[in-house]
Amino acid sequence: MFPENKTIVLSGKLIYDDQCASCHGVNLQGQEGWQYKLVDGIRLAHPYNAEGHTWHHKDYHLFMLTKYGIEEFFNMDYPNNMPAYKNLLSNDQIISVLSYIKSKWPSHIRIKHDQLNKIFYQN
Ligand code: HEC
Repeated sequence: MFPENKTIVLSGKLIYDDQCASCHGVNLQGQEGWQYKLVDGIRLAHPYNAEGHTWHHKDYHLFMLTKYGIEEFFNMDYPNNMPAYKNLLSNDQIISVLSYIKSKWPSHIRIKHDQLNKIFYQN
């Protein structure tokens, strides 16, 4: 991702506000009660800020989860209402939106995430 690139981050913010904020929150705060609540058996969107666990996923996983959806990518039963973006956003748009999200993390989290990206194997 390119959290330092202002042009990419700005275009990512527009996509985020349009496509992701309704669930993940205007301020990346997630949906209220995301830790414990299920609505009709469906889980709620996690926050993307430093409180969330998004930064525990390396770039590759964040990209694939956004493009194909959690269930398809992990090939598991994981009821959630997030659309797969493969037909909605281009690869560049997905990278922009994830760059915007990363740009909102405090620098110590970004550094940890950069280190995570360098690890080849991650479980
Ligand atoms: C209709 C609601 C909804 C929309 C819109 C939505 N998401 Fe999600 N998203 C979810 C839910 C629910 C989860 C599952 C939460 C969990 O991890 O248990 C999720 C999980 C994720 C994950 C998995 C990693 C994590 O931290 O949980 C990524 C990455 C993600 N969303 C990216 C995006 C991006 C990028 C957009 C906009 C392009 C977006 N989402 C739009 C509801 C949504």
